[in-house]
Amino acid sequence: MFKLLKHAKKYAPYAILCPMLMVGEVVLELMIPLVMADIVDEGLANGDMELILRLGVKMLLLALGSLFCGSMAARLGAVAGMGFGSTIRKELLDKIQTFSFSNIDRFSTASLITRMTTDVNTVQNTFLMMIRMLFRAPIMFVAALVICIIKSREISSVFLFSLPLIVIIVAIGGPIALKRFKKMLKMFDGFNASIQENFTNIRVVKAFVRSDYEKDKFKKANDDLLNASISAEKIMIWGQPLLMLVMYGTILAIVYIAAKAISAEMLQIGDFSAVFTYIMQILMNFLMIIMLVAQFFMSEASAKRILEVLGEEPDINDDAASVNIVKDGSVEFKNVTFKYNGSAAPVLSDVSFKIESGETVGIIGATGSAKSTLVQLIPRLYDVTEGEVLVGGVNVKDYKMNALREQVSMVLQKNVLFSGTIAENLRWGNKEATDEELVKACEIADARAFVESFPDGYETDLGQGGVNVSGGQKQRLCIARAILKKPKILILDDSTSAVDTYTDSKIREGLKNGIPDTTKIIIAQRISSVSECDKIIILENGTVNDMGTHDELLARNEIYQDIYYSQQKGSDDFDLEGGEL
Ligand SMILES: Nc1ncnc2c1ncn2[C@@H]1O[C@H](COP(=O)(O)OP(=O)(O)OP(=O)(O)O)[C@@H](O)[C@H]1O
Ligand SMILES: [Mg+2]
Repeated sequence: MFKLLKHAKKYAPYAILCPMLMVGEVVLELMIPLVMADIVDEGLANGDMELILRLGVKMLLLALGSLFCGSMAARLGAVAGMGFGSTIRKELLDKIQTFSFSNIDRFSTASLITRMTTDVNTVQNTFLMMIRMLFRAPIMFVAALVICIIKSREISSVFLFSLPLIVIIVAIGGPIALKRFKKMLKMFDGFNASIQENFTNIRVVKAFVRSDYEKDKFKKANDDLLNASISAEKIMIWGQPLLMLVMYGTILAIVYIAAKAISAEMLQIGDFSAVFTYIMQILMNFLMIIMLVAQFFMSEASAKRILEVLGEEPDINDDAASVNIVKDGSVEFKNVTFKYNGSAAPVLSDVSFKIESGETVGIIGATGSAKSTLVQLIPRLYDVTEGEVLVGGVNVKDYKMNALREQVSMVLQKNVLFSGTIAENLRWGNKEATDEELVKACEIADARAFVESFPDGYETDLGQGGVNVSGGQKQRLCIARAILKKPKILILDDSTSAVDTYTDSKIREGLKNGIPDTTKIIIAQRISSVSECDKIIILENGTVNDMGTHDELLARNEIYQDIYYSQQKGSDDFDLEGGEL
């Protein structure tokens, strides 16, 4: 928690001024019962109206001063507390933006969301409570206790029993509650993961009529969370009345002692009324201190989870890199081996090949043969485990990340569009693109005709994730978006899988004529998508099986022949292979 405070430096003046004002409020507030005692014991007892009036005005001024300090402190506290929360949220977001794919694989998206919302809220509340109460409660407690002891030792002696009793109750209950609270946070991760998956993939869930299954899954996550919360709350259910019992017991004992003292004329009624106010203050503030400690420990769990994210080193960074210019679009793999984090065997082993700038290269291979993995190494979405990847003759690790990714444009296999208009989505790749460039890119990707057939054209609003365009239209918009970046290397990972063969050939034609100097790497399932390429790489289980032109491969390579003839015989209809949604 203290480590997190470092991040709120900007709000330090508020965080310091706020407790100081609080102290002012406390001091003024503490003086009020003393004046009250004087009014009762001297003013009322002697019927001195003038004194009562004077003391009354004094009391009013004290109350106003206390109100002023209190409200200013609350205001400053709110600014500091909310500022602290928003600063941390911003830092988390900035940090997560630097994460590589494998960093994100490690935390899971759901857990990152819980950390950014629930956990930040918890520490923010603790921080707010701390700056409000850190000084106020202890000062109030000690001052009230001292005054109480001075006024009546006998009454104060009751605290000797009740305060330790409260400590014991909390010392027993606190750690148990803490453990359960931590468990509850974990359940929150699971709960968020469940709803997140369900909502983002709601269409698949419905298509597979898996609503009931998903409901059960949700119910389980929800029940787990409920049980964990109840088990944490149970401690509170027992703890709170127990503490109240001790408090009221204390008050009862004090009233009893005071009644005896007053009837023995050892204590004045005015004094007792003042003492009683202090007693309430003592008990209240003591409980407040305890709650503060408890809250502090509880937020420790959240603080740790936030710090884990802030402290995570993005395992791909360009700190040591200095090259800002990608010379050309050549790509070379030198003995590349790659293993995913946590998986045992390498997915790519000893892959070597060279692509000249401006060439069009096809990659073909069975599903799971690591085609996507291979191309993800080019814009450095993952780092190689062994070997080197060169772009423009320079190791990708030596490029500034932006420079590299600016020039390597990739349409991911799982491509997405965002909510917003088509034009906004296309400009996502290149903010400065002119309207003419937009049209040109769409033309190359064979998207122009259908975009312009929409009543609103390029201003058509896409729903979240681009729900209102068809799969093939979405793919073409994604290609257009990638082209708009004017990259030196364009990678299409199975990006025409949802368009018919005729459209596919039109896109290929567009790419060939529209951006002839760009290196194009095309992953495809259909031979027809790659047959005109300058060369074709055949991947098999993470190794390069062969490389050559269509004619060469057709003449000598068995895998290629198999694929070719199977696609020649049948059609490449999806349902023959059991297409996925
Ligand atoms: N993020 C990941 N973490 C761990 N393993 C992964 C990850 N992504 C892919 N793999 C594994 O790497 C292997 C290659 O996957 P890859 O996605 O590269 O295949 P692919 O050739 O693109 O397949 P497809 O034609 O189905 O798209 C698979 O066995 C897969 O299980
Ligand atoms: Mg793939």
